[in-house]
Amino acid sequence: MLTGKTIILGVSGSIAAYKSAEIIRRLKDLNANVRVIMTVNAAKFIGEITLQTLSQNPVYINMFHDSGSLEDSLPHITISDTADLFLVAPATANIIGKVASGIADDLLSTTLLSTGNKPILMAPAMNERMYKSHIYKHNEKKLQIAGVRFINPEYGKLACEEEGEGRLASVDSIIQHVVDVLIEGDLFDTYDLKGKRVLVTAGGTREYIDPVRFIGNPATGKMGFALAHTAQVRGANVTLISGKTLLAPPESVKYISVETADQMGKAVLDNFKHADILVMAAAVGDFKPKRTEKNKIKRKGMLKIDLEPTDDILEKLGKIKNSRITVGFAAETNNLIKNARTKLKKKNLDLIVVNDVTQPDAGFESETNIVKIIDKSNNVEELPKRTKEEVAHRIWDRIVDLINKNKGA
Ligand code: CTP
Repeated sequence: MLTGKTIILGVSGSIAAYKSAEIIRRLKDLNANVRVIMTVNAAKFIGEITLQTLSQNPVYINMFHDSGSLEDSLPHITISDTADLFLVAPATANIIGKVASGIADDLLSTTLLSTGNKPILMAPAMNERMYKSHIYKHNEKKLQIAGVRFINPEYGKLACEEEGEGRLASVDSIIQHVVDVLIEGDLFDTYDLKGKRVLVTAGGTREYIDPVRFIGNPATGKMGFALAHTAQVRGANVTLISGKTLLAPPESVKYISVETADQMGKAVLDNFKHADILVMAAAVGDFKPKRTEKNKIKRKGMLKIDLEPTDDILEKLGKIKNSRITVGFAAETNNLIKNARTKLKKKNLDLIVVNDVTQPDAGFESETNIVKIIDKSNNVEELPKRTKEEVAHRIWDRIVDLINKNKGA
């Protein structure tokens, strides 16, 4: 299946390095030519001779001989030149961090930086706390935007005896990813939003009663930020408009921070002109105080506040959208499908993503979401519990289907 393909397997210093032997064997079974680069630390976990014997090729570790002269004339370049794909398995937090920062201080990191536009797959393996740390996630996102694809680790027993996420993906899954990229060209399909101008809203709005009090909602911005990041990974030009959030603005997107529903409405309207796609994941306040007191209201008995409705941003844009694709979210507590269908129609949406916010692990403040995607023909796609990034990818898949359908029409 992989006859004529050369795969550079980078092995970095994790206990899971022993699994690289099985990866090589499986790639050789598919007739691939496998060339191995190990880090010095990986060589402490598994023997060079083992990998050399299995791959039937010399194994590279150092850039330099002990004498200080180069091992080869320019090993990082000659090795890269022969590659159809780079696979780093296991990829430690260290090698991922180094490549994300452009550090090239050994043969593996130097070769990874000189791959040109050849596909790179990384299969991380590390302790769960490392895997979930902000620093690691930041590096992973940076590399994803640069085109590196990740084979997510599994949940299970880790070397440190803890249970958690961070165990190297199964060899089956790693081989399947390699085949998908080399045979199906899957990696390049993921640039399916290239050239699209995407507008995403996130977070919740605040409607001020006085300078220190507001009516708000528990939205954190995670779903909208996941949509912005995944769109960027798929090649889109992204503008993200968000209500106040604790999340750090993603790099290289146009980021607009707002507070109130009126401010969000104005920012969306201003940017909608230049957008091909709008996804409104923001929880926009439906009511605002008729007046905002200039000074802090003093505590004295009952307080009545008159509220008036805010503008429905999506409904307004639904009337002027032309060929743009618009997608709304519906946070519901009951009659999910019926309410969502009414909103889809009223706001002239192409898709609506509905979730039952009373369910655990769904909606506000959760890392995961459980949603249904409804289209104009009333088809309901039910997604099981997924991370917000996975839900975001599925929403973009559906949007890409619509773009392709519109092209064909
Ligand atoms: N939305 C909007 N402008 C508003 C309120 C909501 O554009 N003033 C958008 C949201 O971003 C979301 C969709 O409309 O994509 C549905 O929001 P939701 O709050 O579920 O629905 P509402 O239309 O506000 O209806 P209700 O709150 O009565 O259920």
